[in-house]
Amino acid sequence: MAVAVAVAVKGAPVTRVTEPDPLRRLTLDQLRRRTSMKWRTYAPDVLPLWVAEMDVPLAEPVAEAITEAVRLGDTGYPAGTVYAQALADFTRRRWGWEVPPEHTALVPDVMLGVVEVLKLITGPGDAVVVNSPVYTPFYQFVTHLGRRVVEAPLDEAGRLDPAVLETAFARAVEGGRRAAYLLCSPHNPTGTVHTAGELTDVAARARAHGVRVVADEIHAPVVLPGAHHVPYLSVPGGERAFSLMSASKAWNLAGLKAALALAGSEAADDLARMPEEVGHGPSHLGVLAHAAALRHATGWLDGLLEGLDHNRRLLAGLLERHLPGVGYRPAEGTFLAWLDCRALGLGDDPAAVFLKRGRVALNSGPAFGTGGAGHVRLNLATSPKILDEAVRRMASAV
Ligand SMILES: Cc1ncc(COP(=O)(O)O)c(C=O)c1O
Repeated sequence: MAVAVAVAVKGAPVTRVTEPDPLRRLTLDQLRRRTSMKWRTYAPDVLPLWVAEMDVPLAEPVAEAITEAVRLGDTGYPAGTVYAQALADFTRRRWGWEVPPEHTALVPDVMLGVVEVLKLITGPGDAVVVNSPVYTPFYQFVTHLGRRVVEAPLDEAGRLDPAVLETAFARAVEGGRRAAYLLCSPHNPTGTVHTAGELTDVAARARAHGVRVVADEIHAPVVLPGAHHVPYLSVPGGERAFSLMSASKAWNLAGLKAALALAGSEAADDLARMPEEVGHGPSHLGVLAHAAALRHATGWLDGLLEGLDHNRRLLAGLLERHLPGVGYRPAEGTFLAWLDCRALGLGDDPAAVFLKRGRVALNSGPAFGTGGAGHVRLNLATSPKILDEAVRRMASAV
């Protein structure tokens, strides 16, 4: 049953209609018919809770938009600013903030967008600061581009550490080099949602050192009750920064490629230098799907957030019962859980043990850089039943 709630965003009341939790809609048999990475990388007896795909059906408005396009044969190249307009409306309604469509650029996906933005503001051999442990492709794409990764590890609580950032920024610009800071907001894998105060501090430090900030905000719509996403470009000092946004995580659209690069007011001239051909990468069907999600599927998103809120509490209870040695701080955002398994004595890569002995696939902690050893990342975007089975399998492996 849909539930209507009145909420206020910057004083303007909006009615939110929450739809039923989409995480409870599909059975394991239905999911195993999928042919995407999550379901086809491991043998059929392995329960996959690794790569960031969600076990949900498509939101109805998204399915309708792409079905209609297919019916029309509307499968050509993308045109216009439909995605940017839809994103601006979404961010205004959700966070009381928006970027004008003329300060955006359509990019094939978030990681390729990050690469293209880094090309605009850094050169070969320049440093890119990241907060380890962090999403593995941050290392892969940055080094593939010929930039150096400088790690600024999160603190023990999984939060940004101002002193560590200060040192990393100073190191990054040594010798008068240009440098960038690739911020993950919310943070993958810890699910940390950075506060306005933390981000304002980051902006001041970055400006002082001349470091350009690129915020990957792909998980921004997936912020759970108790936390609030602050768009990086909205904080004082964020004007010189860039953001990458996309509907692909929150609505499970990774197979429908599209994303947007956003520029703060003082970075718009830099973004305007992005070569026109970058915009040839995203798919028209992707653009239509993402725009439909942002415009018409916020009730679906709110149902998902309720389901994830339930799952993070369920996971805490399951771990307490079956694997009390595992450290778990429920995420404020994202659909990920970062589990500290060091007390279990399974070595640096517990995911390998859980896979071999428990037949459950999780992400290996060491791939997330410094701070990842002894950890695993678990994907919470599944049904409570599958989550329960996964934890039982993990416990049987110990
Ligand atoms: C932080 C982060 N950035 C980027 C991506 C990938 O996005 P895309 O497929 O749009 O490149 C992911 C996927 O999980 C992610 O977690």
